[in-house]
Amino acid sequence: MTGHKDLLDIGSLTRDEIEFLLKTAQPFKELLRRSVKKVPSLQGKSVLNLFYEPSTRTRSSFEIAAKRLSADVTNFAVSTSSVVKGESILDTIDTLQAMRVDYIIVRHSQSGVPNLIARHSKASVLNAGDGYHAHPTQALLDAYTLREVIPESTGKKVLIVGDLLHSRVARSTSEILEKMDVQVGVLGPGPLIPEMRPDYFKTFCSFDDALAWKPDVIYLLRIQLERQEAQFFPSLREYHRYFGVTGERLKRIAGEGIYVMHPGPVNRGVELVDEVMSYERCLINQQVENGVAIRMAVLYWLKPETGTGGAS
Ligand code: CP
Repeated sequence: MTGHKDLLDIGSLTRDEIEFLLKTAQPFKELLRRSVKKVPSLQGKSVLNLFYEPSTRTRSSFEIAAKRLSADVTNFAVSTSSVVKGESILDTIDTLQAMRVDYIIVRHSQSGVPNLIARHSKASVLNAGDGYHAHPTQALLDAYTLREVIPESTGKKVLIVGDLLHSRVARSTSEILEKMDVQVGVLGPGPLIPEMRPDYFKTFCSFDDALAWKPDVIYLLRIQLERQEAQFFPSLREYHRYFGVTGERLKRIAGEGIYVMHPGPVNRGVELVDEVMSYERCLINQQVENGVAIRMAVLYWLKPETGTGGAS
């Protein structure tokens, strides 16, 4: 299947392309469990990690994925670059482009920055999270993880809980679930559920009502205090009481065999109690592991316009 130049959002992928990427990730996951974990697929290619926002999982898993494919990786340290002297994004990209990179992985607090860079660059641009907009590789790794535990996912139910308003993960992951014919329910404090939401969202007002819907997976979102200009709920304690996986809710979730997912990083005591992390159907570490295989599949699939055999 012919690769795109860029991966900016889930909306630009067809269902067949999503299936192709999930299938391509499978042998990469097997490779990562072998003693020799490297293949030469991107030998001679260069990958630039350009993170204007903090990241643990996405940045390091892209770096590992690129290195496993034998690419050369540069981590651009924004805080010690000329960006702090006021250099614009496009001037930074022009400068880096002159060094002939083939792939640029971008995270930025403003929605649309990866699209802007993609229009300006021959390198393949991968959106590693932009503002409230999109986080497509998170969505792909979530879909891959769901398929691992529920191979026949059509018609299954995923309940997304928390701050949907500020969440690029919720936007991209719900979009991929809908493309895979998975039913999506949402639960959270009223002000954090967007008024303009897709028709396919089934909205719940309480955890009890949402559990009565019989979800197969509960997908907890991180409360993003750094993105909230106003106070959307009285306190973190109140949030935990109404929307967190408390010890009592965990017993019910375990009794009903429901899986728990979270993109990380988790706020313990807010979205969930510590015990969730050792719950046998908690998929959080599996999501992280799958992040490397999915990002290998995406890097392998994309087609930069920088010429064959490396730099143009
Ligand atoms: N899930 C996610 O994007 O995590 P990081 O912010 O650590 O990359």
